[in-house]
Amino acid sequence: MRLTKKIMAMALASGMVLSMAACGGGSSTADTTAAPTEAATTAAEAEDTKADSAETTAAEVNEAVEGKDPAEVKVGISIYQFADNFMTLYREELEKYLIEELGVKKENISIMDGKNDQGEQMNQIRNFITQGCDVMIINLVQASSEPTVTEECNAAGIPVVYINREPEAEREQAWVDEGIKATYVGADARQSGTFQGEEIAELENKGDADGDGVVRYIMVQGDPENVDAQYRTEFSIQALTDAGVEVEELVKMRGDWDQTKGQEITANALSQHGAKIDVVFCNNDAMALGALQAIEAAGRKVNEDIYLVGVDALVEVVEHVMNDKMTGTVFNDYFGQAHTAADKAMDFVNGKDVDNVYMVDYVKVTTENAAEILDLIK
Ligand code: GAL
Repeated sequence: MRLTKKIMAMALASGMVLSMAACGGGSSTADTTAAPTEAATTAAEAEDTKADSAETTAAEVNEAVEGKDPAEVKVGISIYQFADNFMTLYREELEKYLIEELGVKKENISIMDGKNDQGEQMNQIRNFITQGCDVMIINLVQASSEPTVTEECNAAGIPVVYINREPEAEREQAWVDEGIKATYVGADARQSGTFQGEEIAELENKGDADGDGVVRYIMVQGDPENVDAQYRTEFSIQALTDAGVEVEELVKMRGDWDQTKGQEITANALSQHGAKIDVVFCNNDAMALGALQAIEAAGRKVNEDIYLVGVDALVEVVEHVMNDKMTGTVFNDYFGQAHTAADKAMDFVNGKDVDNVYMVDYVKVTTENAAEILDLIK
């Protein structure tokens, strides 16, 4: 049972698949410089087919060239860094879905670790181009590198599905305006921030643990270049102030999505501000797990004298929410995101229309539904 598990309706041309020699499927004819356009390839294939069989209708030719045998599709994937809890879950689901649901061969999927280094990731992308991948799924190290990546992939005739780190909105529009085969699949981080704030605002005391009329908080941020970090930071607090809560920020520091940094930042804040801290907001669950270690080490008790929220719904965190050790989290639906990313990658390969942006909903996780969410993710 999956929240957003979709019934696959891939219209792969059954039994009528022509192999397109341009790239993938072990073919050595990959053209990395000339970048034949889809239209040119289609026309050439259509011409060949006509010569082979005078009986074949134009419609059949179209259907045939549009559906590529998934067993021959080569997919290049680069994840910004393997040492990221959430992106590890995402990556595993993505690979599983491509293989088990879409019929892509494991040996035709290349998954690289960007090692949080844009230069390294750029080399991986260039290798994918040289190897003749049919499509790429890219979790950029730096969203600001998107124009370069898109330009190189587009020049090579390779579509790109960006995931998790959203490029600029103007760039997403430029893909449409310029007819570039690129799309973004993600989740609107404003929603996750709002949900975090609401989880606090919906508490009986609205997060005012010490009852002095002001909710004082610390904000443990992800990588601030990331819109996820920016929006979660902004919208969590906005949800609180929208609910009429008076707030004061005591500390805001970047923890780069990392548990150890979350622990250090929270420990320092607790020793500096002590009992004044009512709420610890973390932009993700890994940092919230670190914050929990610091809170416990300082002898504080979540949901009694301090509140703690994260985002992602890692199994450990959802269990903590059930056991009253964390106030809440927000499910970052990597099933929905991975499936949509893979579906859109295959749509590109099969010449179907693909929009420029796909957003998957977040889900609030509190004691009320934690057991249900655990059932979905475990
Ligand atoms: C966020 C997620 C974080 C981290 C980040 C990487 O969506 O909540 O845990 O994985 O993506 O860009």
